[in-house]
Amino acid sequence: MNDNFLKACRGEKTRPVPVWFMRQAGRYLPEYQQIRGRADFLTMCKTPELAAEVTLQPVDLLGVDAAILFSDILIPLEAMGAGLTFKEGRGPVITPPVRSWDEFSILHSVDPQKDLIFVLDTIRILRKELSEKVPLIGFAGAPFTLATYLIEGGTTKSFVHTKKMLFSKPDLFRAVMNLITDVTIKYLSAQIDAGAQAVQLFDTWGGILTRQDFRDGALVYARRIFHALKDKGVPMIYFVYDGGHLLDLVRHSGADVFGLDWRTDIKTALKSLGQDAVVQGNLDPCLLFLTEDRLRERIAEILYQGLCAKAHIFNLGHGVLPEIPPDKVRLAIDIIHELSS
Ligand code: CP3
Repeated sequence: MNDNFLKACRGEKTRPVPVWFMRQAGRYLPEYQQIRGRADFLTMCKTPELAAEVTLQPVDLLGVDAAILFSDILIPLEAMGAGLTFKEGRGPVITPPVRSWDEFSILHSVDPQKDLIFVLDTIRILRKELSEKVPLIGFAGAPFTLATYLIEGGTTKSFVHTKKMLFSKPDLFRAVMNLITDVTIKYLSAQIDAGAQAVQLFDTWGGILTRQDFRDGALVYARRIFHALKDKGVPMIYFVYDGGHLLDLVRHSGADVFGLDWRTDIKTALKSLGQDAVVQGNLDPCLLFLTEDRLRERIAEILYQGLCAKAHIFNLGHGVLPEIPPDKVRLAIDIIHELSS
């Protein structure tokens, strides 16, 4: 098996540098669209054979060094009793939004072996299929990011309901966060027991907070998850999108690897994370629209900066966009491998 990804997670410098891309399975791939034409997104997530097939597509088509489970961070919210739908062109919708103790009282903890068994079955299929290939990454949403979807009822620009609860109903906010945190510990623990060889916690919206509110309202919960899972012995990645101002706090999260978006370059990030940090990132996904020569220069710069870290896993600074030509994604992966060999 190609275990460069796991080696790098554990702090070993590898040649070539391992690469995988967030949203590497997704709408930009015609092979994904073909399956998506027959099943809606949630059905794909809940049908282990389909979820496994889609997970494997980028491994076989692009040559990435890790597979990431095909699912969504919002899946556990449904298992907790929230209504979840994905509306075409509108993104996720959660009903009812949780803004009062009454709405909170509908939610409950989960038993992953029952309520999320389709995810665990997908992982078991994948470990068989991937045994000679690459490691499998499991994942979950970080509590603050999941709470924003639960409280806003979907995607938002202002986060006004979330911040309103944080500042005017702190007891309710804490209750929501504690429940999500407990569920996430059980969920990731079950993913690891089913065969996930690393896990990533996605904190897509942690970056909207001030340092103080991130520390008290988001990081304490993420840290509780990393500490609870430490003994499981698999590498844990923490990705706070748009979190450049938070990196010296993120450093103390208990994660083994720190994901970086493109706004903060690796050298600058290491000043906050410490030179002994393992980092993952951080090409702006839109740079994949560059011509080959220009793209090569930008990749070389990131690889060069990655040498300053204890170890580096190449990734994008956020997910692959549906508009990006698959050939460019494949080209980028080839260039990363070639330049770092
Ligand atoms: O990375 C992968 O390849 C693994 C699968 C994965 C998906 N979503 C599949 C997906 C992962 C790891 C996620 C994480 C996720 N989901 C995050 C955190 C990372 C990030 O992007 O910031 C968030 C915030 C979500 C919530 C979510 N899921 C939204 C807001 C949307 C709608 C917007 C969009 O991009 O479509 C989704 C849908 C979604 N999740 C799709 C996929 C492939 C598109 C579904 C489709 O086929 O229509």
